[in-house]
Amino acid sequence: MEVMSIVESLFRWIHVVAGVLWIGLLYFFNWVNANVMPKLDGETKKKLVPELMPRALYWFRWGAAFTWGTGIYLLLYLFYHHKLALQDPDAGLGLFSGLMLVLVLVAPFIYDPLAKGPLKDPQTAFGAGVALATLLLFVFQWVGGFGFRGYSIHLGATFGTIMAFNVWFRIWPLQREIITATKNGTAPNPDAVALAGLRSKHNTYMSVPLVFMMIAQHATWASSPVTLGVIVLVGWALVYHIYDRAAKVQGF
Ligand code: HEM
Repeated sequence: MEVMSIVESLFRWIHVVAGVLWIGLLYFFNWVNANVMPKLDGETKKKLVPELMPRALYWFRWGAAFTWGTGIYLLLYLFYHHKLALQDPDAGLGLFSGLMLVLVLVAPFIYDPLAKGPLKDPQTAFGAGVALATLLLFVFQWVGGFGFRGYSIHLGATFGTIMAFNVWFRIWPLQREIITATKNGTAPNPDAVALAGLRSKHNTYMSVPLVFMMIAQHATWASSPVTLGVIVLVGWALVYHIYDRAAKVQGF
């Protein structure tokens, strides 16, 4: 038992350090780098991009992998082994509670076609995203039988799983293409640039409510799915404002 609590602490530690590494670089890409790159000429980019981006993306994608891996371990250990997700821990984990884990894991495969199709327009994605996140919280509560800690962390894990998918299967492969083109002095494929940028933006939006969901157990005043849905909305409004501010910060 003692050993397991040491392991749990170690996983929490790695989880948060890797999360800081990942999300810190995500903010650097979106709020710093994206405003610096357009100021550079082709020759400078040709020299800088192949040196800077592969290094930054190395820590970025491995940060994502370690955050996700340790997060899934914590989810399995605390919420499925110790049943901390349940409203009534004595009720035991039924089939429907187990299905909630499946929902977290398949979320990227629901998100990806939605993001390519009906939620392509940013305004629609913004509104529908808040509505879907709130709906998901209710699904975790009503179908999964989860209490506050359970449904908040499961929404965080859903966002995080989608984000890790975006990093490994969208942003990284597209960035490899973009960096190679820049290195060769050719114009990168505009579709690749647009899609990599959009998925990185989606991740930035999801990251801010995700962090709240990770720490939500310390915010019992927010313990209803509707309040958490409002927090997603507030988080996204904050991200919108930061993008705006980031574009106005000047170098000298
Ligand atoms: C990628 C998917 C992620 C999953 C599956 C996940 C899962 C989890 C789980 C299960 C916990 C334990 C919660 C509890 O004890 O009630 C946790 C805690 C936490 N996570 Fe995540 N997480 C993810 C991403 C992130 C990211 C990107 C960050 C950003 C830094 C983060 C920061 C935290 C923090 C600060 C805690 C609280 C640690 C504590 O109170 O001991 N997580 N996460």
